[in-house]
Amino acid sequence: MSENAIGIFDSGLGGLTAAKELVKVLPHENVIYFGDTARVPYGNKSRKTIIRYAEQDADFLLSKGVKMIIAACGTVSSVATQLNEELPVPFTGVVIPTASAAVKATRNGRIGVIGTSATINSGSYKKEILRRNSDITVFQQDCPLFVSLVENSFISKDDGIVRLTVERYLASLKDQGIDTLILGCTHFPIISEAISEYLGDSVTLIDSGRETALYAAEILKNKGLLNKNEVPGSCRYYVSDTVEDFSKTAEIFLGKNVSSEVSHINLEHAVIH
Ligand code: DGL
Repeated sequence: MSENAIGIFDSGLGGLTAAKELVKVLPHENVIYFGDTARVPYGNKSRKTIIRYAEQDADFLLSKGVKMIIAACGTVSSVATQLNEELPVPFTGVVIPTASAAVKATRNGRIGVIGTSATINSGSYKKEILRRNSDITVFQQDCPLFVSLVENSFISKDDGIVRLTVERYLASLKDQGIDTLILGCTHFPIISEAISEYLGDSVTLIDSGRETALYAAEILKNKGLLNKNEVPGSCRYYVSDTVEDFSKTAEIFLGKNVSSEVSHINLEHAVIH
């Protein structure tokens, strides 16, 4: 069992932020990544649809024999909260580890949260922050266009469209004097340079991908599920839309070409047990 892969899923490329960190934290683990690129974005869909998609994504990973599932998606983690009880393997989303890191990081008690519309409407991060410290003031802002920017490879901080979109969404949070900002959608760390340049050094960005990778590593360790095989792990990617589009942006973000490890999967025809 310990040699089985860790399954990670997202609506698209965003979960790569968690996959990249997981490989750093647990270099001997095998990883199976699923990006539902044919149905991205999730963040503007109804609760019912998000839950259905999330269950199908998790079922696909289970069919690959994974030993743990990470919903590396702020939207799924905020809306499909029943997954924790439903799945036969350990599971984590991104909200709890990320909220907890933000509470530890803030000095002035003013935390901003950005995410998809579904995430912000759910109030998931805000609830987790206030559960930990009710004196903190939380400012929320949905930034749906960030997902489209990332999925279309607009990720450079020097790109005019990226800069303008960042300014448009984050101006009010900047005015509120936050000292910590939760990147509550896993797509957002991919444009963190642009976000950081706009907000300045005084604002700490909390990367949901990184915090979740650390949290998942703790869960595996506590359950005795870490891979005992001390050779570098492998990473396999599955996407529901074209391999080429995913590989292109993945290469910019991961700094290496992974196209030979990416396969297309049609979820409707996948053999799911
Ligand atoms: N990366 C996802 C999230 O963390 C989903 C973005 C989307 O599909 O709208 O929310």
